[in-house]
Amino acid sequence: MFSLKELEAWEYNANDEDHRLTHKFSPNRPVPQEHIHELGVLTWKLDVDEWEKNTLLETIKMDRGYKYSEVVTVCPKEMEDFEEKVKGFFQEHMHSQEEKRLILDGNGYWDIRDYDGKWIRFPVTKCDMIVLPPGMFHRFTLDENHYIKHGAESESAASKLYVLIIWILVQERIRGQSAE
Ligand SMILES: [Fe+2]
Repeated sequence: MFSLKELEAWEYNANDEDHRLTHKFSPNRPVPQEHIHELGVLTWKLDVDEWEKNTLLETIKMDRGYKYSEVVTVCPKEMEDFEEKVKGFFQEHMHSQEEKRLILDGNGYWDIRDYDGKWIRFPVTKCDMIVLPPGMFHRFTLDENHYIKHGAESESAASKLYVLIIWILVQERIRGQSAE
Protein backbone atom coordinates (compact mmCIF):
# COMPACT_ATOMS: atom_id res chain seq x y z
CA MET A 1 0.00 0.00 0.00
CA PHE A 2 2.79 2.45 0.90
CA SER A 3 6.20 2.75 -0.59
CA LEU A 4 8.43 1.48 2.18
CA LYS A 5 11.79 3.10 2.61
CA GLU A 6 14.89 0.95 2.06
CA LEU A 7 16.74 1.37 5.29
CA GLU A 8 20.49 1.28 5.67
CA ALA A 9 21.44 0.70 9.29
CA TRP A 10 24.58 -0.25 11.18
CA GLU A 11 25.86 -0.96 14.65
CA TYR A 12 27.01 2.31 16.21
CA ASN A 13 30.71 2.50 17.01
CA ALA A 14 30.85 4.49 20.23
CA ASN A 15 34.26 6.09 19.75
CA ASP A 16 35.27 9.62 20.74
CA GLU A 17 34.52 11.22 17.38
CA ASP A 18 31.87 13.87 16.93
CA HIS A 19 28.45 12.23 17.03
CA ARG A 20 27.52 13.85 13.69
CA LEU A 21 30.00 11.56 11.93
CA THR A 22 28.86 8.12 10.73
CA HIS A 23 30.27 6.07 13.64
CA LYS A 24 30.64 2.90 11.62
CA PHE A 25 32.93 0.08 12.66
CA SER A 26 35.68 -0.89 10.25
CA PRO A 27 34.62 -3.11 8.64
CA ASN A 28 31.05 -1.91 8.92
CA ARG A 29 28.56 -4.01 10.90
CA PRO A 30 25.34 -3.66 8.95
CA VAL A 31 21.98 -4.27 10.59
CA PRO A 32 19.32 -5.74 8.28
CA GLN A 33 16.25 -3.64 7.62
CA GLU A 34 14.09 -6.56 8.78
CA HIS A 35 15.62 -6.26 12.24
CA ILE A 36 14.81 -2.55 12.43
CA HIS A 37 11.22 -3.30 11.51
CA GLU A 38 11.15 -6.17 14.02
CA LEU A 39 12.09 -3.63 16.71
CA GLY A 40 8.91 -1.78 15.77
CA VAL A 41 10.28 1.04 13.61
CA LEU A 42 8.11 1.94 10.60
CA THR A 43 9.61 3.60 7.53
CA TRP A 44 8.20 5.11 4.35
CA LYS A 45 9.42 7.17 1.39
CA LEU A 46 6.96 9.95 0.57
CA ASP A 47 6.96 12.66 -2.06
CA VAL A 48 7.23 15.83 0.02
CA ASP A 49 7.25 18.56 -2.62
CA GLU A 50 3.59 19.16 -1.84
CA TRP A 51 3.44 17.24 1.39
CA GLU A 52 0.28 18.93 2.56
CA LYS A 53 -1.57 17.43 -0.39
CA ASN A 54 0.11 14.03 -0.21
CA THR A 55 -2.64 11.44 -0.10
CA LEU A 56 -0.36 8.70 1.24
CA LEU A 57 0.55 10.91 4.17
CA GLU A 58 -3.11 11.62 4.76
CA THR A 59 -3.82 7.89 4.74
CA ILE A 60 -0.99 7.19 7.18
CA LYS A 61 -2.22 9.96 9.47
CA MET A 62 -5.78 8.67 9.36
CA ASP A 63 -4.79 5.04 9.82
CA ARG A 64 -2.57 5.81 12.79
CA GLY A 65 -4.72 8.49 14.39
CA TYR A 66 -2.38 11.43 13.96
CA LYS A 67 -4.48 14.49 14.48
CA TYR A 68 -2.32 17.34 13.34
CA SER A 69 1.06 18.26 11.90
CA GLU A 70 3.57 20.91 12.77
CA VAL A 71 6.59 21.91 10.74
CA VAL A 72 9.71 22.37 12.82
CA THR A 73 12.76 23.90 11.15
CA VAL A 74 15.95 22.91 12.88
CA CYS A 75 18.24 25.81 12.10
CA PRO A 76 19.60 28.63 14.24
CA LYS A 77 17.51 31.30 12.60
CA GLU A 78 14.24 29.49 13.09
CA MET A 79 14.82 27.70 16.36
CA GLU A 80 15.24 29.36 19.69
CA ASP A 81 18.16 27.95 21.72
CA PHE A 82 19.31 25.99 18.68
CA GLU A 83 22.54 24.62 20.16
CA GLU A 84 20.85 23.54 23.38
CA LYS A 85 17.98 21.91 21.55
CA VAL A 86 20.28 20.04 19.17
CA LYS A 87 22.25 18.80 22.19
CA GLY A 88 18.98 17.72 23.77
CA PHE A 89 18.00 15.69 20.70
CA PHE A 90 21.12 13.59 21.24
CA GLN A 91 20.34 12.81 24.87
CA GLU A 92 18.99 9.29 25.11
CA HIS A 93 15.28 9.41 25.82
CA MET A 94 11.98 7.75 25.08
CA HIS A 95 8.34 8.75 24.79
CA SER A 96 5.14 7.14 25.96
CA GLN A 97 3.83 7.74 22.45
CA GLU A 98 5.27 7.12 19.00
CA GLU A 99 7.90 9.49 17.64
CA LYS A 100 6.85 10.33 14.09
CA ARG A 101 8.77 12.49 11.69
CA LEU A 102 8.62 13.30 8.02
CA ILE A 103 11.81 14.88 6.72
CA LEU A 104 11.12 17.73 4.33
CA ASP A 105 14.77 18.64 3.88
CA GLY A 106 18.22 17.98 5.31
CA ASN A 107 19.96 14.95 6.76
CA GLY A 108 20.44 13.34 10.12
CA TYR A 109 20.76 10.10 12.05
CA TRP A 110 18.54 8.28 14.46
CA ASP A 111 20.14 5.99 16.99
CA ILE A 112 17.91 3.36 18.55
CA ARG A 113 18.60 0.74 21.22
CA ASP A 114 18.64 -2.87 20.15
CA TYR A 115 17.26 -5.67 22.37
CA ASP A 116 20.75 -6.15 23.82
CA GLY A 117 21.26 -2.45 24.53
CA LYS A 118 23.61 -1.80 21.60
CA TRP A 119 23.01 1.35 19.59
CA ILE A 120 21.88 0.97 16.00
CA ARG A 121 22.22 4.00 13.72
CA PHE A 122 20.30 4.77 10.55
CA PRO A 123 20.39 7.88 8.37
CA VAL A 124 17.37 9.90 7.28
CA THR A 125 17.03 12.37 4.47
CA LYS A 126 14.40 14.29 2.52
CA CYS A 127 11.23 12.22 1.85
CA ASP A 128 11.78 9.80 4.72
CA MET A 129 8.98 9.20 7.16
CA ILE A 130 9.91 7.35 10.33
CA VAL A 131 7.82 6.15 13.23
CA LEU A 132 9.52 4.92 16.40
CA PRO A 133 7.35 2.85 18.73
CA PRO A 134 6.41 4.08 22.21
CA GLY A 135 9.00 3.27 24.82
CA MET A 136 11.92 2.87 22.41
CA PHE A 137 15.07 4.52 23.71
CA HIS A 138 16.55 6.73 21.01
CA ARG A 139 18.38 9.94 20.15
CA PHE A 140 18.79 12.09 17.07
CA THR A 141 21.60 14.10 15.55
CA LEU A 142 22.19 16.18 12.46
CA ASP A 143 24.87 14.70 10.23
CA GLU A 144 28.42 15.70 9.35
CA ASN A 145 27.39 18.02 6.51
CA HIS A 146 25.97 20.25 9.13
CA TYR A 147 28.98 19.72 11.32
CA ILE A 148 31.43 20.63 8.57
CA LYS A 149 29.50 23.66 7.49
CA HIS A 150 29.02 24.70 11.03
CA GLY A 151 32.66 24.33 11.86
CA ALA A 152 34.20 25.74 8.72
CA GLU A 153 32.05 28.63 7.64
CA SER A 154 31.88 32.17 8.91
CA GLU A 155 28.90 33.25 10.96
CA SER A 156 27.05 34.89 8.07
CA ALA A 157 27.70 32.03 5.67
CA ALA A 158 26.75 29.54 8.33
CA SER A 159 23.32 31.03 8.76
CA LYS A 160 22.74 30.67 5.03
CA LEU A 161 24.01 27.12 4.89
CA TYR A 162 22.09 26.03 7.89
CA VAL A 163 19.28 24.82 5.69
CA LEU A 164 19.22 21.62 7.54
CA ILE A 165 16.32 19.62 8.43
CA ILE A 166 12.70 20.41 8.43
CA TRP A 167 10.47 17.83 9.91
CA ILE A 168 6.91 17.47 10.71
CA LEU A 169 6.09 16.74 14.25
CA VAL A 170 2.99 14.69 13.92
CA GLN A 171 1.44 14.36 17.28
CA GLU A 172 -1.64 12.97 18.85
CA ARG A 173 -3.49 15.04 21.35
CA ILE A 174 -4.62 13.03 24.30
CA ARG A 175 -6.99 14.81 26.58
CA GLY A 176 -5.22 16.41 29.49
CA GLN A 177 -1.78 15.30 28.36
CA SER A 178 0.80 17.06 26.23
CA ALA A 179 1.90 15.08 23.19
CA GLU A 180 5.68 14.62 23.58
FE1 LIG B 1 12.46 11.65 20.75
